[in-house]
Amino acid sequence: MAAKPFVSDIKAIRERARNHIRQGAVTDGYKADRQTVIKVLNEALATELVCVLRYKYHYYMASGIHSKGVAAEFLEHANEEQQHADLIAQRITQLDGKPNLSPEGLLSRSHSEYVEGKDVVEMIEEDLVAERIAIDSYREIVQYLGNDDPTTRRLMEEILAKEEEHAEDLGNLLQELGKKGEPAREPVRKSAAHV
Ligand SMILES: [Fe+2]
Ligand SMILES: [Fe+2]
Repeated sequence: MAAKPFVSDIKAIRERARNHIRQGAVTDGYKADRQTVIKVLNEALATELVCVLRYKYHYYMASGIHSKGVAAEFLEHANEEQQHADLIAQRITQLDGKPNLSPEGLLSRSHSEYVEGKDVVEMIEEDLVAERIAIDSYREIVQYLGNDDPTTRRLMEEILAKEEEHAEDLGNLLQELGKKGEPAREPVRKSAAHV
């Protein structure tokens, strides 16, 4: 008995591909509600951008003598959130959508918040809260996508795994700072201009 072909009607698929060539990567086989996926991805994009800004702020403000290691971690996370933002924006355009990069309303589109924090410990705590929000909302996005849009789901799964790593890093930092007993409440610099 001949093996079942993976694609049942390659001729029809080829025809469809030709007829709707203007739709780029979105074929008739795309099962998800494209507009909803684009909207959800734009929220994830805003979440990532707010995280970039918050981590950058923390990086610049935590450059005190005791905070070098923590600052390096903030910068690494900022760069990785920027990569996530880029990947999400790219996927939105593949789906024929527009990545919303407008600063207007950025914070209200974002799931995570922008909190400055008074000292290094508070900064880490706020970042951990933001990561945990991202983890929960990305998990929901993955579940929503299911098998309807496997490419977007895979992308969001990869980003989700990274956010879990971030949360673990931050948890470890909090523990280390607690153990050393310093610089637990080192205040951040008042203004970068005075340094
Ligand atoms: Fe991220
Ligand atoms: Fe993250």
